[in-house]
Order: sequence, then C-alpha cells, then structure tokens
Amino acid sequence: MCGIVAALAARNVQGILLEGLKRLEYRGYDSAGMAVMESGALMRQRAQGKVAALEEKLAERSLTGSIGIAHTRWATHGKPSEVNAHPHLAGDRVAIVHNGIIENFEPLKRELESDGVVFESETDTEVVAHLIDRAFATCHDLLAAVQSVLARIDGAYALAVMHVDAPREIVGARKGSPLVVGVGIDENFLASDTLALLQVTDRFVYLREGDVVRLSARHGIEVLTADGEPAARDVQVYEHGDSAASRGDYRHFMLKEIHEQPAVIAATLEGRLSGSHVLESSFGVGARALFERVKQVHIIACGTSYHAGMVARYWLEKLAGIPTTVEVASEYRYRDVVVPENTLFVTLSQSGETADTLAALRYATSRADDLTEQDGQGYLATLAICNVPGSSLTRESDLSLMTQAGPEIGVASTKAFTTQLVALMLLTLALRRSRGDEREAALVQALRGLPGVLDQALAMDGPIAALSEAFAEKHHALFLGRGTQYPIALEGALKLKEISYIHAEAYPAGELKHGPLALVDADMPVIAVAPNDELLEKLKSNLQEVRARGGELFVFADEGVALTAADSLRVLHVPAVDEFLAPIVYTLPLQLLSYHVAVLKGTDVDQPRNLAKSVTVE
Ligand code: F6R
Repeated sequence: MCGIVAALAARNVQGILLEGLKRLEYRGYDSAGMAVMESGALMRQRAQGKVAALEEKLAERSLTGSIGIAHTRWATHGKPSEVNAHPHLAGDRVAIVHNGIIENFEPLKRELESDGVVFESETDTEVVAHLIDRAFATCHDLLAAVQSVLARIDGAYALAVMHVDAPREIVGARKGSPLVVGVGIDENFLASDTLALLQVTDRFVYLREGDVVRLSARHGIEVLTADGEPAARDVQVYEHGDSAASRGDYRHFMLKEIHEQPAVIAATLEGRLSGSHVLESSFGVGARALFERVKQVHIIACGTSYHAGMVARYWLEKLAGIPTTVEVASEYRYRDVVVPENTLFVTLSQSGETADTLAALRYATSRADDLTEQDGQGYLATLAICNVPGSSLTRESDLSLMTQAGPEIGVASTKAFTTQLVALMLLTLALRRSRGDEREAALVQALRGLPGVLDQALAMDGPIAALSEAFAEKHHALFLGRGTQYPIALEGALKLKEISYIHAEAYPAGELKHGPLALVDADMPVIAVAPNDELLEKLKSNLQEVRARGGELFVFADEGVALTAADSLRVLHVPAVDEFLAPIVYTLPLQLLSYHVAVLKGTDVDQPRNLAKSVTVE
C-alpha cells in the first residue's frame, strides 16, 4: 500500500530514489513521484501510472540534489492522477510522502480551508503537509513540527518530510505502516522495506510503532519514541543478499517465485527437523513448555494466508487432535471473541504488516488482558508465522516462526503460501501429543523429500501451458476440492481471478449439487484437485455430476487415481506424495495454470490491476 523511499547523501540521489521506487512498485503502482532539494529549492516530478512513466519524465528533466523523497502510490483518497501523486507540497516549503490513511483529515482540512489554505489534491496527505508548514513557521525545527502534527492526526502512517529551511534533514515517522532506516557510510535512507535499499546498504534500523526519526548531516540518525524520548535501536545486518530484486532469466517475478519453491521450502525446513521430529525451539524460547498446554488453536489471516490457515485446520484436528478455528482478520477483529482456556493465537502473514492481521493480533492481546482480569482466562500465547524479519507482527507476538521464502515481489502470493503450509505442518507436528510415532516419522521423512517432489511438479509446466489455452477465452471458472484440497481450490480460484481477471469460484465438491451446479455448461470450465486420498471416491461422484451436465472438466490427479481422459475430461498427472503434503504439491500446477492463462491474456502478471502487496490499510 504505497512505497516510500528517502535519501540523504553526499551524492546525487535521483538514481537511488528511482531504483528504490522500482523495487517498491509491488506496493502500489497508480502513480509515482519524487522531490529533491535543488540549490535550496524543492523540485518535484510526478506521473500517473507506473514508475516507468516517472522515469520518462525524469529523462526529460532530471532532478539533481543530495537529499530527496519519493513515492509509488496505491490510491485511497482521491483517484489515481498526477495531481494526487506524492510528494505533496505546502507553499513550496514542505514536501511529504505518506503511506497509510489519515482518518481525521476532513475536520483538519476544513480547519485549514477556513484559514485560507487552498488544496491542490484530493488526498489526506496534503493536509499533513500544510499542518507541518504551519507548525514549522512557529518552531523553526522540522522534527518538532512533525511531532506536533503527529499529535493531531489519527490513523496509520509512514511518512517522510523535507523543508526548505532545514535543507540537510529528512524527518520520518511510522505508526501502523512500516518504515526502516537504511544505514550507510555518511549517508542514510528511509524506505517502506529493506528491499528498496539493498542497492545501497545491508544495515538497517527497524523503527517501532510510534517512532519518529531524523536523518541529518549533522547528527546522523536520531530516533525518538512516540513520547519524544530518545530511543536506542539496534542496527541489524540483512544477510540474504540482494539477488531477490532481480527477475533473472524469468519473464515475470511470479514465474521465478513459483520455480523457487523447492529451494525456499528446503530453507524453511533447514535446522527445524531433528531425526524424525520437529524442533520446538524453532518457534522461540519457551515454545516447548507452552505447546504442552495448548488445548485449542485460533488462526487469523487474510487472503492467500487465510487459505493456508484453512489447510492447517484439517491437519491440526486430524494429526494433533486440537480443535482449531480459522478466520479472516477483518471479521475476527470486530467480533466479541470467546477464548477457551489454553488457546494458542496464530497469525499468518507474508508481509507481517497487513493492517487487519496486525489489528487482530492487538485485539487478541488486549482481549487476553481483559479476560485475564475477569476470570483468569485469555490467550495462552501469540505466534506469528511470517516471511519478513523485523516486521510488526513478529515483533509483537510472543513466538514466531519465519518462513524462509525470501522477498516475494509478484503481487500474487506463491512461494509465501507454500512455505506457510510447511511452517504450519511443523506447528502441527510440534503440537502433536503422540510424539515419536510412525506417523510423525513418516511425515518428517516426507517433508525432507518434498523439495524433490515439487521439482517434479514444476516439470508439468509445458502441459499446463498447453492446457491454459482452453481458458483464455473463458469468462468464468469453477474450482472443486474436498478436505485439505478445498482451500487449495480456493487458492487456485483466487490466483486465476487476481492475475487473469477471469471470474473464478471455488466450492467444496460436495456442495456442488446445492446450487453451483446450475452454472455448469460448456462455457464453464471446472477444475478439480483430486489426489488419491480417502475422499477420492466421493469426489469422483461429484465429477460425474459435472460431466452429466455437459461441463468441461480438468482434473489434477496422481497416477493412482483411475480416471481416463475423455472428450470432456482432461486429466493432468501430479506427482504422488504423502496425502497430508498433497495440498502443497497440488498448489504448484494451479499457480502455473493461472500464470499461463494470464500471460495468454496479456495482463500485467506481477502487478495486477487495482491490487498491491502488503495491505497496510484496513
Ligand atoms: C493474494 C495475496 C493476498 C495476501 C493478503 C495477505 O495472492 O497475496 O491475498 O495473501 O493480502 O497478505 P499477508 O500474507 O502479507 O498478510
């Protein structure tokens, strides 16, 4: 949801800011802009559309200066247009970039208008620019001016501000949206994520909720808490290198990330298995003792991560015998949740910054406090399964397990999802009471072999590319699965609609006859995920219901499933694997299918319309 980058250096920063924006484009791509201090004046370039449009403008009229801020936008207040693009200025004195939403911007705007301020844009951000302009006119200190304005605004923000009369300073702040400081040698940076700055440094300070930071030529980096107290924040070294920012030989990031799955799953397992069991210490200090007390699990997530949680419910109940609920964060956070004794609260998030998931965690924590006061009950502990080290979700949870997917750039989540599933299988085994039995040993062995099976699944790419032609002209598609494959069908449908804009729905196959069967005809391709499990025979009956209505069926099944291709039935063979790991393996062909359909349709695979990665607004 919008990307911010800022630089204060001794060299020209236009190239650094532009490269930072390209790396942040996954966060929003409605418009982009940059402001640089040029000989004591604020100079700005903005363009509607992607960063490439800004780059073209900069090629015509470049910006030259050693201090600047830049932004790529995912529109919330005001349509995508050049006039609404950041940076926003106030009186040519203040320039600001902002990610998030200022909830009380309307009364503040009215107040400013009645005082004679004329607004250029429809954004909430411009209000903050004018407030800072006024505050600076009184105190003549950019940090103090920003602090006084932050005290007046409600909502979520990460922001970076410059002022012509503080020409060697940038002030940043974060609350509810991420912001990191990149630490260089005699130069410092701010950005929405580390990836934007790996081009210039591998040393970062992860700001905490409410932190305000001043980068200045005189004082370097000063961090203050929300209360204005100086705060010591560690500098952490990013150790994963910078290769993730490039597509390599792949046509799209999404395809690269699909193909990375065997390697990142191996990385997610590394150091977390010992002999034939899972090391509980992978979840953090004290996890073992806590896990022994868990009687119930609540899983909270959004979108694709929610689908991973749905798979885990089947695993936790069947393999660990632990009652489990799964809920989307945006619903959970507004419910009066009843928390049974000894419940583990688990959040799943690739980014660790999703606004609803973070709010759900905070609600769970506060609810735990309320309940503890009332009757001694509340959540036993909070656990985050997350892909971004240092993210808000991991910092605010008692325990965490990092998926090792590496940066995911494609907006449609792929490798983050399958690594979440692996992490959830580790959790299931760690919570299993009957430790050390044959089932656990078999699953640990199957997990070790999983990267190899996924390599085989990726070899389906050619046949799937051929199959995708049957979808390119279609407007709708139906996905079916049963048991753990129902969430995989949901995920397959989400991927298809996200990147190819084909309307896709998923149903548990048994529900077909309760309504959706009415939709089935020759124009509605039906995709079924059919591993050789205990529900196979039931699924086969459901598929007959489709064929009997003239529906065109595409079945992903392993070779043990006796299904013979026929006119209206195409079968694609998926490598066989332990039935509990089948949801992970079956995900890959569905990802490849949506990818190839999108490529055929010519959509923007990595940056589908209207979407952005890391949804930091509610
Ligand atoms: C879909 C997708 C989204 C995210 C959702 C949650 O491909 O990527 O549905 O899964 O926005 O994001 P995280 O996992 O970062 O909390």
